Amino acid sequence: MRQSVIAGNWKMHGTRASVSKLLEEIKSGARAIANVEWIVFSPFVFLEQTAHILQGSNVHWGAQNLNPEASGAFTGEISGSMLQEFGCEYVIVGHSERRQLYGETDAIVAKKFIAAKQTGLKPILCLGETLKQRESLLTHDVVLQQLNAILTLPEGVSLLKDALLAYEPVWAIGTGLTATPEQAQEVHHLLRQQVASFSKEIAEKLPILYGGSVKAGNASQLFAMPDIDGGLVGGASLDAKEFIEIARSFPHVKREL
Ligand code: PGA
Repeated sequence: MRQSVIAGNWKMHGTRASVSKLLEEIKSGARAIANVEWIVFSPFVFLEQTAHILQGSNVHWGAQNLNPEASGAFTGEISGSMLQEFGCEYVIVGHSERRQLYGETDAIVAKKFIAAKQTGLKPILCLGETLKQRESLLTHDVVLQQLNAILTLPEGVSLLKDALLAYEPVWAIGTGLTATPEQAQEVHHLLRQQVASFSKEIAEKLPILYGGSVKAGNASQLFAMPDIDGGLVGGASLDAKEFIEIARSFPHVKREL
């Protein structure tokens, strides 16, 4: 069985006080749900606080971005090794907001992915189509191109060992629109098949998360799909109760509660 994952992408939200409260609440809620990988993605400036509060708990943490270089004259940037110093285990790469607002191309995303692996961080590669691309029936082409940017690197499919994918249709992010479980499953299956054409073993173990307006009200149907292994949750992850409720929506967790 693949690892179920519940990940919260806090984006540019929070204060010292709100972060403390949220972390404490998530930490205590997560204790009762052990067979799920819990991850929170705090803003850089709250990573030390995050590490301090989550140390010794079953909630892991990571960063929302990294610079592909190891060090140097890159004003305002943060490297993978710096993230490691703050106990980060994971890092998000290729989020659609980075692609759209900060011009990150597939080539830049691939560099970040490699940098994450080289520093021992587990990257979560985000991919997804815009509404226009979906309406033009380009969804498959777009997500495969984004995935192939990693699969066709010299290191190839082995880069996806200890990595995760997150399918996040751009039209569903922060909009309240969610892909139907069937729409999401179709893309997740396509992604897994593509990885399997390089390595069945890696494809079988690869967690593929869904992201885009995941809430307690729609998580059960999404997580019931065979190729949806969890959620990358934005807005709803800022509310501890809602976030914990989403984690309770995995079929195996529901059975045990
Ligand atoms: P959302 O964001 O849950 O607020 O739609 C998801 C994401 O961007 O990772």
